[in-house]
Amino acid sequence: MTTIGILGSGHVGSNLAKAAIAHGYDVVLSNSQGPDSLVGLVKELGPQATGATPAEAAAAGGFAIVAIPIATIDQVPVEPLAGKVVIATINYYPQRLGHIPEIDDGTTTAPGLLQAHLPTSKVVRAFSMINAAEMSGDGHPQGDPQRRALALAGDDPAAKQLVANLYNEFGFDALDIGGLDESWRVDAGQPAFVTRQNLAELKENVARAKRPA
Ligand SMILES: NC(=O)c1ccc[n+]([C@@H]2O[C@H](COP(=O)([O-])OP(=O)(O)OC[C@H]3O[C@@H](n4cnc5c(N)ncnc54)[C@H](OP(=O)(O)O)[C@@H]3O)[C@@H](O)[C@H]2O)c1
Repeated sequence: MTTIGILGSGHVGSNLAKAAIAHGYDVVLSNSQGPDSLVGLVKELGPQATGATPAEAAAAGGFAIVAIPIATIDQVPVEPLAGKVVIATINYYPQRLGHIPEIDDGTTTAPGLLQAHLPTSKVVRAFSMINAAEMSGDGHPQGDPQRRALALAGDDPAAKQLVANLYNEFGFDALDIGGLDESWRVDAGQPAFVTRQNLAELKENVARAKRPA
């Protein structure tokens, strides 16, 4: 069974770990403070979870989830993620965390910054537009009227297929909205952000996105 390396074990990392374990994955969790600080969470998650350093989690994962604040992207270990699919949940909140001129002027995007830091990894933006608790608590089987749709964006088709399959396993429909350069369409403040929506509604909301001036 695939192991997922999780970098960042806060609201998002812990909820995605829970969802992954519920669907049969093993997870290796990490944070900035070190594995000793993860003992309680790992115990709560059970035997499919272990705690490690970010480099160890990255190395252990068949693929990885990076669920950290945007300001710490440059601390993500590069070599152990080489060649791997890396799911970026990272959002950009300039009001809270400070402005990044290359995002403001449209030169890059939040996941684009991670891709630039990890040149040989295959970064896919996913799980960035849903509240953390709902990642593990609001998945529904195909055909269920409650089933929600989530967007993904990335530059590698096989990596995007892996993420679409993961969405499906976790109980969400997937909408591919294009490359990382299109991922701003589901940024905070856009119509598709943190809204309960099915696939048709998500398509409409993504089409209504407007890049900030
Ligand atoms: N919360 C949501 O509902 C939500 C939804 C979608 C997307 N997002 C985005 O997903 C990301 C994570 O959000 P969150 O709410 O989970 O944040 P959070 O609760 O503050 O957790 C952040 C985690 O990242 C860890 N961390 C920081 N720098 C790290 C590094 N360089 N390497 C490894 N771990 C590191 C922190 O570890 P320490 O505690 O040890 O410092 C903490 O475990 C953010 O970019 C956010 O915008 C959040």
